[in-house]
Amino acid sequence: MYAQLVKSEGKSKAELTPEDHAFQARIDAGEKIEPKEWMPEGYRKTLIRQIGQHAHSEIVGQLPEGNWITRAPTLERKQILLAKVQDEAGHGLYLYCAAETLGVSRDELLEKLHSGDMKYSSIFNYPTLTWADMGAVGWLVDGAAIMNQVPLQRTSYGPYSRAMIRICKEESFHQRQGYAIMMKMANGTPEQKQMAQDALNRLWYPSLMMFGPSDKDSVHSVQSMAWKIKMNTNDELRQKFVDQTVPQAEYLGLTVPDPNLKWNEEKGGYDFSEPDWDEFFNVIKGNGPCNKERLGARVKAWDDGAWYREAMVAHAKKKAARRTVAAE
Ligand code: 3HC
Repeated sequence: MYAQLVKSEGKSKAELTPEDHAFQARIDAGEKIEPKEWMPEGYRKTLIRQIGQHAHSEIVGQLPEGNWITRAPTLERKQILLAKVQDEAGHGLYLYCAAETLGVSRDELLEKLHSGDMKYSSIFNYPTLTWADMGAVGWLVDGAAIMNQVPLQRTSYGPYSRAMIRICKEESFHQRQGYAIMMKMANGTPEQKQMAQDALNRLWYPSLMMFGPSDKDSVHSVQSMAWKIKMNTNDELRQKFVDQTVPQAEYLGLTVPDPNLKWNEEKGGYDFSEPDWDEFFNVIKGNGPCNKERLGARVKAWDDGAWYREAMVAHAKKKAARRTVAAE
Protein backbone atom coordinates (compact mmCIF):
# COMPACT_ATOMS: atom_id res chain seq x y z
CA MET A 1 0.00 0.00 0.00
CA TYR A 2 2.77 2.46 0.92
CA ALA A 3 4.62 1.80 -2.32
CA GLN A 4 1.46 2.71 -4.20
CA LEU A 5 0.89 5.93 -2.27
CA VAL A 6 4.52 6.86 -2.71
CA LYS A 7 4.22 6.38 -6.47
CA SER A 8 1.11 8.49 -6.92
CA GLU A 9 1.84 11.27 -4.47
CA GLY A 10 5.52 11.52 -5.31
CA LYS A 11 6.33 11.13 -1.61
CA SER A 12 8.81 8.87 0.08
CA LYS A 13 7.44 6.60 2.81
CA ALA A 14 8.91 8.93 5.42
CA GLU A 15 7.17 11.90 3.81
CA LEU A 16 3.67 10.44 4.08
CA THR A 17 1.75 12.68 6.45
CA PRO A 18 -0.50 11.55 9.29
CA GLU A 19 -3.40 12.67 7.02
CA ASP A 20 -2.22 10.26 4.27
CA HIS A 21 -2.13 7.38 6.74
CA ALA A 22 -5.50 8.23 8.25
CA PHE A 23 -7.04 8.56 4.81
CA GLN A 24 -5.78 5.14 3.68
CA ALA A 25 -7.03 3.61 6.92
CA ARG A 26 -10.52 4.97 6.23
CA ILE A 27 -10.45 3.51 2.70
CA ASP A 28 -9.20 0.15 4.02
CA ALA A 29 -12.03 0.14 6.57
CA GLY A 30 -14.57 0.56 3.74
CA GLU A 31 -15.63 4.09 4.67
CA LYS A 32 -17.02 6.47 2.04
CA ILE A 33 -15.18 9.71 1.38
CA GLU A 34 -17.48 12.71 1.04
CA PRO A 35 -16.87 15.96 -0.92
CA LYS A 36 -15.78 18.36 1.82
CA GLU A 37 -13.51 15.87 3.58
CA TRP A 38 -9.74 15.94 3.28
CA MET A 39 -8.33 13.78 0.48
CA PRO A 40 -4.89 13.44 -1.13
CA GLU A 41 -4.51 15.52 -4.26
CA GLY A 42 -3.77 12.38 -6.30
CA TYR A 43 -7.07 10.82 -5.18
CA ARG A 44 -9.00 13.94 -6.22
CA LYS A 45 -7.25 14.13 -9.60
CA THR A 46 -7.76 10.44 -10.33
CA LEU A 47 -11.46 10.73 -9.56
CA ILE A 48 -11.85 13.79 -11.77
CA ARG A 49 -10.10 11.94 -14.61
CA GLN A 50 -12.14 8.76 -14.27
CA ILE A 51 -15.56 10.30 -13.51
CA GLY A 52 -15.04 12.98 -16.17
CA GLN A 53 -14.02 10.38 -18.77
CA HIS A 54 -17.03 8.30 -17.78
CA ALA A 55 -19.41 11.31 -18.08
CA HIS A 56 -17.98 12.13 -21.52
CA SER A 57 -18.50 8.48 -22.56
CA GLU A 58 -22.17 8.75 -21.69
CA ILE A 59 -22.84 11.82 -23.81
CA VAL A 60 -20.61 10.81 -26.73
CA GLY A 61 -22.25 7.37 -26.48
CA GLN A 62 -25.57 8.98 -27.43
CA LEU A 63 -24.28 9.65 -30.95
CA PRO A 64 -23.94 6.15 -32.50
CA GLU A 65 -27.44 5.21 -31.29
CA GLY A 66 -28.98 8.62 -31.96
CA ASN A 67 -27.97 7.87 -35.55
CA TRP A 68 -30.71 5.19 -35.73
CA ILE A 69 -33.67 6.91 -34.02
CA THR A 70 -35.16 8.14 -37.28
CA ARG A 71 -34.67 4.73 -38.91
CA ALA A 72 -35.96 2.42 -36.16
CA PRO A 73 -38.08 -0.31 -37.79
CA THR A 74 -41.24 0.19 -35.69
CA LEU A 75 -42.80 2.90 -33.53
CA GLU A 76 -42.25 0.75 -30.43
CA ARG A 77 -38.54 0.30 -31.22
CA LYS A 78 -38.23 4.05 -31.85
CA GLN A 79 -39.77 4.86 -28.45
CA ILE A 80 -37.47 2.41 -26.67
CA LEU A 81 -34.37 3.72 -28.43
CA LEU A 82 -35.35 7.33 -27.73
CA ALA A 83 -35.76 6.52 -24.03
CA LYS A 84 -32.39 4.76 -23.94
CA VAL A 85 -30.53 7.60 -25.63
CA GLN A 86 -32.20 10.04 -23.25
CA ASP A 87 -31.13 7.90 -20.27
CA GLU A 88 -27.50 8.26 -21.41
CA ALA A 89 -27.82 12.05 -21.22
CA GLY A 90 -29.10 11.62 -17.66
CA HIS A 91 -26.12 9.40 -16.79
CA GLY A 92 -23.81 12.12 -18.10
CA LEU A 93 -25.61 14.60 -15.88
CA TYR A 94 -25.27 12.52 -12.68
CA LEU A 95 -21.58 11.99 -13.40
CA TYR A 96 -20.77 15.62 -14.24
CA CYS A 97 -22.52 16.56 -10.96
CA ALA A 98 -20.41 13.98 -9.07
CA ALA A 99 -17.24 15.42 -10.67
CA GLU A 100 -18.29 18.97 -9.76
CA THR A 101 -18.22 18.03 -6.06
CA LEU A 102 -14.44 17.65 -6.51
CA GLY A 103 -14.00 21.30 -7.43
CA VAL A 104 -14.05 21.18 -11.22
CA SER A 105 -16.79 22.81 -13.28
CA ARG A 106 -18.77 21.10 -16.00
CA ASP A 107 -17.57 23.76 -18.45
CA GLU A 108 -13.94 22.96 -17.64
CA LEU A 109 -14.55 19.25 -18.20
CA LEU A 110 -16.28 19.87 -21.52
CA GLU A 111 -13.51 22.20 -22.61
CA LYS A 112 -11.02 19.38 -21.94
CA LEU A 113 -13.15 16.92 -23.92
CA HIS A 114 -13.39 19.32 -26.86
CA SER A 115 -9.65 20.03 -26.88
CA GLY A 116 -8.81 16.31 -26.74
CA ASP A 117 -7.18 16.64 -23.28
CA MET A 118 -9.72 14.24 -21.79
CA LYS A 119 -10.76 10.89 -23.20
CA TYR A 120 -14.06 9.09 -23.65
CA SER A 121 -14.60 5.37 -24.15
CA SER A 122 -12.87 3.93 -27.23
CA ILE A 123 -16.01 2.00 -28.20
CA PHE A 124 -17.84 5.09 -29.41
CA ASN A 125 -15.30 5.67 -32.16
CA TYR A 126 -16.75 2.77 -34.17
CA PRO A 127 -19.66 3.24 -36.58
CA THR A 128 -23.17 1.75 -36.22
CA LEU A 129 -23.84 0.49 -39.73
CA THR A 130 -27.14 -1.44 -39.51
CA TRP A 131 -30.16 -1.79 -37.22
CA ALA A 132 -28.60 -4.98 -35.83
CA ASP A 133 -25.87 -2.76 -34.38
CA MET A 134 -28.52 -1.27 -32.04
CA GLY A 135 -28.99 -4.79 -30.70
CA ALA A 136 -25.27 -5.50 -30.44
CA VAL A 137 -24.54 -2.13 -28.79
CA GLY A 138 -27.19 -2.72 -26.11
CA TRP A 139 -26.15 -6.33 -25.57
CA LEU A 140 -22.38 -6.00 -25.72
CA VAL A 141 -21.53 -2.34 -25.02
CA ASP A 142 -24.05 -1.80 -22.25
CA GLY A 143 -23.27 -5.34 -21.06
CA ALA A 144 -19.56 -4.46 -20.78
CA ALA A 145 -20.44 -1.15 -19.14
CA ILE A 146 -22.52 -2.93 -16.46
CA MET A 147 -19.76 -5.47 -15.81
CA ASN A 148 -17.43 -2.55 -15.09
CA GLN A 149 -19.94 -0.38 -13.26
CA VAL A 150 -21.68 -2.77 -10.86
CA PRO A 151 -18.52 -3.03 -8.72
CA LEU A 152 -18.18 0.77 -8.91
CA GLN A 153 -21.36 1.04 -6.81
CA ARG A 154 -18.98 0.16 -3.94
CA THR A 155 -16.31 2.69 -4.93
CA SER A 156 -14.88 4.78 -2.08
CA TYR A 157 -16.08 8.22 -3.21
CA GLY A 158 -19.66 8.75 -1.99
CA PRO A 159 -21.12 10.86 -4.84
CA TYR A 160 -19.62 8.54 -7.48
CA SER A 161 -20.88 5.37 -5.83
CA ARG A 162 -24.39 6.82 -5.43
CA ALA A 163 -24.49 7.92 -9.08
CA MET A 164 -23.44 4.39 -10.11
CA ILE A 165 -26.35 2.78 -8.25
CA ARG A 166 -28.87 4.68 -10.33
CA ILE A 167 -26.93 4.29 -13.56
CA CYS A 168 -26.59 0.52 -13.18
CA LYS A 169 -30.35 0.06 -12.81
CA GLU A 170 -30.91 1.81 -16.13
CA GLU A 171 -27.98 0.11 -17.86
CA SER A 172 -29.45 -3.29 -17.18
CA PHE A 173 -32.64 -2.27 -18.99
CA HIS A 174 -30.43 -1.08 -21.87
CA GLN A 175 -28.63 -4.38 -22.00
CA ARG A 176 -31.89 -6.32 -22.11
CA GLN A 177 -33.41 -4.18 -24.85
CA GLY A 178 -30.28 -4.81 -26.92
CA TYR A 179 -30.50 -8.55 -26.34
CA ALA A 180 -34.21 -8.46 -27.26
CA ILE A 181 -33.29 -6.90 -30.62
CA MET A 182 -30.61 -9.57 -31.15
CA MET A 183 -33.14 -12.34 -30.37
CA LYS A 184 -35.58 -10.94 -32.91
CA MET A 185 -32.87 -10.65 -35.58
CA ALA A 186 -31.26 -14.01 -34.85
CA ASN A 187 -34.63 -15.75 -35.08
CA GLY A 188 -35.71 -13.81 -38.17
CA THR A 189 -34.96 -14.37 -41.84
CA PRO A 190 -31.52 -15.70 -42.87
CA GLU A 191 -30.63 -12.13 -43.94
CA GLN A 192 -31.60 -10.76 -40.51
CA LYS A 193 -29.60 -13.47 -38.75
CA GLN A 194 -26.63 -12.58 -40.95
CA MET A 195 -26.98 -8.91 -39.97
CA ALA A 196 -26.92 -9.94 -36.29
CA GLN A 197 -23.81 -12.08 -36.88
CA ASP A 198 -22.11 -9.24 -38.75
CA ALA A 199 -22.83 -6.82 -35.89
CA LEU A 200 -21.34 -9.29 -33.40
CA ASN A 201 -18.29 -9.76 -35.65
CA ARG A 202 -17.59 -6.03 -35.80
CA LEU A 203 -18.35 -5.11 -32.18
CA TRP A 204 -16.88 -8.08 -30.26
CA TYR A 205 -13.26 -6.93 -30.03
CA PRO A 206 -14.06 -3.20 -29.57
CA SER A 207 -16.30 -4.29 -26.65
CA LEU A 208 -13.42 -6.25 -25.09
CA MET A 209 -11.28 -3.10 -25.40
CA MET A 210 -13.74 -1.12 -23.24
CA PHE A 211 -12.16 -2.66 -20.11
CA GLY A 212 -8.88 -0.90 -20.88
CA PRO A 213 -5.42 -2.25 -21.70
CA SER A 214 -4.20 -5.54 -20.30
CA ASP A 215 -3.14 -5.33 -16.66
CA LYS A 216 0.55 -5.23 -17.49
CA ASP A 217 -0.03 -2.00 -19.51
CA SER A 218 -2.57 -0.40 -17.18
CA VAL A 219 -0.99 2.74 -15.73
CA HIS A 220 -3.52 3.55 -13.04
CA SER A 221 -4.98 0.23 -11.83
CA VAL A 222 -2.70 -0.43 -8.86
CA GLN A 223 -3.13 2.98 -7.25
CA SER A 224 -6.82 3.24 -8.17
CA MET A 225 -7.50 -0.13 -6.60
CA ALA A 226 -5.61 0.80 -3.44
CA TRP A 227 -7.89 3.84 -3.17
CA LYS A 228 -10.97 1.77 -4.17
CA ILE A 229 -11.62 4.10 -7.09
CA LYS A 230 -11.47 0.90 -9.16
CA MET A 231 -12.60 -2.37 -7.61
CA ASN A 232 -11.16 -4.86 -10.14
CA THR A 233 -8.39 -5.00 -12.67
CA ASN A 234 -9.12 -4.57 -16.38
CA ASP A 235 -8.33 -8.22 -17.17
CA GLU A 236 -10.51 -9.56 -14.35
CA LEU A 237 -13.55 -7.73 -15.70
CA ARG A 238 -12.78 -8.66 -19.32
CA GLN A 239 -12.67 -12.33 -18.33
CA LYS A 240 -15.99 -12.07 -16.48
CA PHE A 241 -17.56 -10.38 -19.49
CA VAL A 242 -16.42 -13.13 -21.88
CA ASP A 243 -17.63 -15.84 -19.50
CA GLN A 244 -21.05 -14.20 -19.23
CA THR A 245 -21.46 -13.32 -22.92
CA VAL A 246 -20.38 -16.48 -24.74
CA PRO A 247 -23.38 -18.56 -23.52
CA GLN A 248 -25.65 -15.66 -24.52
CA ALA A 249 -24.20 -15.76 -28.06
CA GLU A 250 -24.73 -19.53 -28.13
CA TYR A 251 -28.36 -19.07 -27.11
CA LEU A 252 -28.78 -16.70 -30.06
CA GLY A 253 -27.20 -19.27 -32.39
CA LEU A 254 -24.42 -16.79 -33.23
CA THR A 255 -20.68 -17.40 -33.35
CA VAL A 256 -18.21 -15.33 -31.36
CA PRO A 257 -15.57 -14.31 -33.92
CA ASP A 258 -12.63 -15.90 -32.11
CA PRO A 259 -11.13 -19.19 -33.33
CA ASN A 260 -9.22 -19.52 -30.04
CA LEU A 261 -12.28 -19.31 -27.82
CA LYS A 262 -12.32 -22.40 -25.65
CA TRP A 263 -13.68 -23.35 -22.21
CA ASN A 264 -10.83 -23.89 -19.78
CA GLU A 265 -12.01 -26.30 -17.11
CA GLU A 266 -9.02 -25.65 -14.88
CA LYS A 267 -9.54 -21.89 -14.60
CA GLY A 268 -13.34 -22.17 -14.80
CA GLY A 269 -13.51 -19.61 -17.62
CA TYR A 270 -12.94 -19.23 -21.34
CA ASP A 271 -9.57 -18.83 -23.01
CA PHE A 272 -9.93 -16.14 -25.65
CA SER A 273 -7.92 -13.98 -28.04
CA GLU A 274 -6.79 -10.56 -26.89
CA PRO A 275 -8.02 -7.60 -28.91
CA ASP A 276 -5.54 -5.86 -31.22
CA TRP A 277 -3.91 -3.52 -28.71
CA ASP A 278 -2.22 -1.42 -31.43
CA GLU A 279 -5.68 -0.64 -32.75
CA PHE A 280 -6.87 0.26 -29.21
CA PHE A 281 -4.00 2.68 -28.57
CA ASN A 282 -4.48 4.19 -32.01
CA VAL A 283 -8.20 4.76 -31.32
CA ILE A 284 -7.60 6.40 -27.92
CA LYS A 285 -4.99 8.67 -29.55
CA GLY A 286 -7.80 10.04 -31.74
CA ASN A 287 -7.29 7.96 -34.88
CA GLY A 288 -10.28 5.60 -34.76
CA PRO A 289 -12.80 5.40 -37.60
CA CYS A 290 -15.19 7.96 -36.05
CA ASN A 291 -13.12 10.04 -33.59
CA LYS A 292 -13.25 13.23 -35.65
CA GLU A 293 -16.96 12.87 -36.40
CA ARG A 294 -17.86 12.22 -32.74
CA LEU A 295 -15.82 15.09 -31.32
CA GLY A 296 -17.00 17.36 -34.15
CA ALA A 297 -20.63 16.61 -33.24
CA ARG A 298 -20.02 17.42 -29.56
CA VAL A 299 -18.20 20.68 -30.35
CA LYS A 300 -21.02 21.69 -32.71
CA ALA A 301 -23.66 20.94 -30.05
CA TRP A 302 -21.70 23.10 -27.58
CA ASP A 303 -21.35 25.98 -30.05
CA ASP A 304 -24.99 25.76 -31.16
CA GLY A 305 -26.11 25.87 -27.52
CA ALA A 306 -24.14 29.05 -26.69
CA TRP A 307 -27.16 31.35 -27.24
CA TYR A 308 -29.21 29.30 -24.79
CA ARG A 309 -26.56 29.32 -22.07
CA GLU A 310 -26.10 33.08 -22.53
CA ALA A 311 -29.88 33.64 -22.38
CA MET A 312 -30.09 31.66 -19.12
CA VAL A 313 -27.30 33.74 -17.54
CA ALA A 314 -28.92 37.01 -18.74
CA HIS A 315 -32.27 35.86 -17.33
CA ALA A 316 -30.72 34.94 -13.98
CA LYS A 317 -29.03 38.37 -13.78
CA LYS A 318 -32.27 40.21 -14.58
CA LYS A 319 -34.15 38.18 -11.97
CA ALA A 320 -31.49 38.91 -9.32
CA ALA A 321 -31.56 42.65 -10.21
CA ARG A 322 -35.38 42.70 -9.91
CA ARG A 323 -35.12 41.03 -6.52
CA THR A 324 -32.61 43.66 -5.35
CA VAL A 325 -34.87 46.53 -6.50
CA ALA A 326 -37.89 44.94 -4.79
CA ALA A 327 -35.94 44.55 -1.54
CA GLU A 328 -34.86 48.25 -1.50
N1 3HC B 1 -11.33 4.04 -23.84
C1 3HC B 1 -10.58 5.15 -23.78
N2 3HC B 1 -9.49 5.25 -22.98
C2 3HC B 1 -9.19 4.21 -22.20
C3 3HC B 1 -9.95 3.03 -22.19
C4 3HC B 1 -11.06 2.96 -23.05
N3 3HC B 1 -11.82 1.88 -23.16
N4 3HC B 1 -9.39 2.16 -21.31
C5 3HC B 1 -8.33 2.77 -20.79
N5 3HC B 1 -8.19 3.99 -21.32
C6 3HC B 1 -7.11 4.94 -21.07
C7 3HC B 1 -7.09 5.44 -19.63
O1 3HC B 1 -7.96 6.53 -19.47
C8 3HC B 1 -5.63 5.79 -19.46
O2 3HC B 1 -5.36 7.01 -20.12
P1 3HC B 1 -5.12 8.42 -19.30
O3 3HC B 1 -4.02 8.16 -18.31
O4 3HC B 1 -4.75 9.40 -20.37
O5 3HC B 1 -6.42 8.75 -18.63
C9 3HC B 1 -4.93 4.73 -20.26
O6 3HC B 1 -5.87 4.25 -21.22
C10 3HC B 1 -4.38 3.58 -19.43
O7 3HC B 1 -5.44 2.76 -18.92
P2 3HC B 1 -5.61 2.37 -17.38
O8 3HC B 1 -6.06 0.97 -17.29
O9 3HC B 1 -4.39 2.74 -16.61
O10 3HC B 1 -6.80 3.39 -17.00
P3 3HC B 1 -7.88 3.30 -15.86
O11 3HC B 1 -7.31 2.78 -14.59
O12 3HC B 1 -8.57 4.63 -15.80
O13 3HC B 1 -8.93 2.20 -16.38
C11 3HC B 1 -11.21 2.14 -17.17
C12 3HC B 1 -9.75 2.43 -17.52
C13 3HC B 1 -11.38 0.66 -16.84
C14 3HC B 1 -12.09 2.51 -18.36
C15 3HC B 1 -11.58 2.99 -15.90
O14 3HC B 1 -11.30 4.33 -16.13
C16 3HC B 1 -13.01 2.87 -15.48
O15 3HC B 1 -13.42 1.89 -14.88
N6 3HC B 1 -13.82 3.94 -15.74
C17 3HC B 1 -15.19 4.04 -15.32
C18 3HC B 1 -16.13 3.42 -16.29
C19 3HC B 1 -16.19 4.12 -17.61
O16 3HC B 1 -15.61 5.15 -17.87
N7 3HC B 1 -16.97 3.54 -18.50
C20 3HC B 1 -17.24 4.07 -19.80
C21 3HC B 1 -17.90 2.98 -20.54
S1 3HC B 1 -19.08 3.56 -21.67
C22 3HC B 1 -20.49 3.87 -20.82
O17 3HC B 1 -20.58 3.67 -19.66
C23 3HC B 1 -21.66 4.39 -21.60
C24 3HC B 1 -22.82 3.47 -21.53
O18 3HC B 1 -23.90 4.11 -22.03
C25 3HC B 1 -22.61 2.23 -22.32
